[in-house]
Amino acid sequence: MAEGHRRLVAVSNRVGPLNDEGKAGGLAVGLSDALKRRGGLWFGWSGNTSSKGTFSEAATEIEGDVALTTIDMSEEELSGFYYGYANRSLWPLLHYRLDLAEFDRQSDRIYRSVNQRFAARLSQMLEDDDLVWIHDYHFFYMGSELRQCGFRGKIGFFLHIPFCPPEIFTALPASHDIVRAMLAYDVIGFQTDTDRRNFANFCVRELGGEKLPGHRIRVGDRVVVADTFPIGIDAPGYARFAVSPEAGEHEEMVRGMVGDRLQIIGVDRMDYSKGLVERFRGFERLLEEYPENRGNVQFLQVAPLSRSELDAYVELRRELEELAGHINGRFATLEWTPLQIMTRGFTRRALAGIYRAARVCLVTPLRDGMNLVAKEYVAAQDPDDPGVLILSRFAGARSELTEALVVNPYSTDDVARALQRALTMPLEERKRRWEQMREAVFHGTAAHWCDSFLDRLENADNEADGSAAEAFVEAHPS
Ligand code: ADP
Ligand code: G6P
Repeated sequence: MAEGHRRLVAVSNRVGPLNDEGKAGGLAVGLSDALKRRGGLWFGWSGNTSSKGTFSEAATEIEGDVALTTIDMSEEELSGFYYGYANRSLWPLLHYRLDLAEFDRQSDRIYRSVNQRFAARLSQMLEDDDLVWIHDYHFFYMGSELRQCGFRGKIGFFLHIPFCPPEIFTALPASHDIVRAMLAYDVIGFQTDTDRRNFANFCVRELGGEKLPGHRIRVGDRVVVADTFPIGIDAPGYARFAVSPEAGEHEEMVRGMVGDRLQIIGVDRMDYSKGLVERFRGFERLLEEYPENRGNVQFLQVAPLSRSELDAYVELRRELEELAGHINGRFATLEWTPLQIMTRGFTRRALAGIYRAARVCLVTPLRDGMNLVAKEYVAAQDPDDPGVLILSRFAGARSELTEALVVNPYSTDDVARALQRALTMPLEERKRRWEQMREAVFHGTAAHWCDSFLDRLENADNEADGSAAEAFVEAHPS
């Protein structure tokens, strides 16, 4: 643990790894970059199921200054909590996809009970002056459960994904319960101002709350800080990855494969929020409308499988493979296959080399909390010959990466036009745009994100108008 700091206790469903393994997911990447620096305890799910579930013995691995402690879930807990409530109800809803969200009482019950179980287990490991930092939509109730377990120290919460407008969030039968429970946190962090405003508007319109200066919200006699803390990557570390021997080998491999053609890259978990179908259609439109690109560009989409037990994800995979087949069937020649899709994972170094070989990176989610791929692509570029980032207006990263080519991912024409512009962009313009983005990525790092959130949390008492943990428990008896 870094000196002079209180112990940091981070909680998230997925924990680690801290090393350079292929791991798809912005939370694991951002948090491990932050924790490696600061040290502390990282608590969450082991990734396994067992009959004892959340009553199973905790396992701990130590890596440097970080202890990774995990417990199992039972099959029933995993199905109701993770596949059910977290990924069938909350994930689509918070990504504005009311059409895909499903709600049922059983998974609501299991979600609450898993939050309670994780809090009960964690509270046995806590010391009074620990700083507890809970992450993401899996654990909305955990702070209030920790309070019920008697923990009186500081608790912060960070939402890695978007917070949708109140008009959508109120469709969730437990929306009031969730937001009331969130008031147990001392500081609530969001990726963008839009997410923060959506949350504050929910508090005002649905709970009769009031916005206070300094991004604080009062609901009843409880005052919480709700502010924006955009997550970043370990930019200097990532730039070093990009010139490592492993990255170099992968860069060469990709360059060898594409020859004189220009490489377009996309890297996303295979998730409906990432806009992959719309992106493929945009690429098809490029080949239709700008035929000079036929035979001269190559699109590689890396899309590791995610949550494959859920129907929406199975359906997406089928649709993408069909669309890729259609595009290749329509345009391929004996010596050229326009689009390649790969579901394998890479180490971070390997991925950095692949980014560096690509002239254009397509990051076109329909809705995304931040999108770390956009920042990694920028950090990995060769300063003498940087590539062009095409970025959705609906990605959180858009607020910082203002020199990307910004597109509406729903517009096939817009994506095709941006691709054509990126593929023909002169070196001087590429450099100018990349330099602004590089500065943003090196400024808003994982370390900066972590420090600014934790500073705010440590000072939360002074800011929160004296509303202490005791008062929360009294006002919200279990
Ligand atoms: P999300 O959190 O929704 O998955 P992000 O873009 O924020 O989206 O984060 C994705 C992270 O997963 C990035 O750090 C990216 O490098 C990593 N990743 C994506 N695909 C792969 C892959 N095939 N192998 C290894 N890491 C991957
Ligand atoms: C996003 C979420 C994370 C999640 C990750 C991978 O980054 O914000 O909480 O861990 O996706 O999804 P998975 O369901 O595999 O954990």
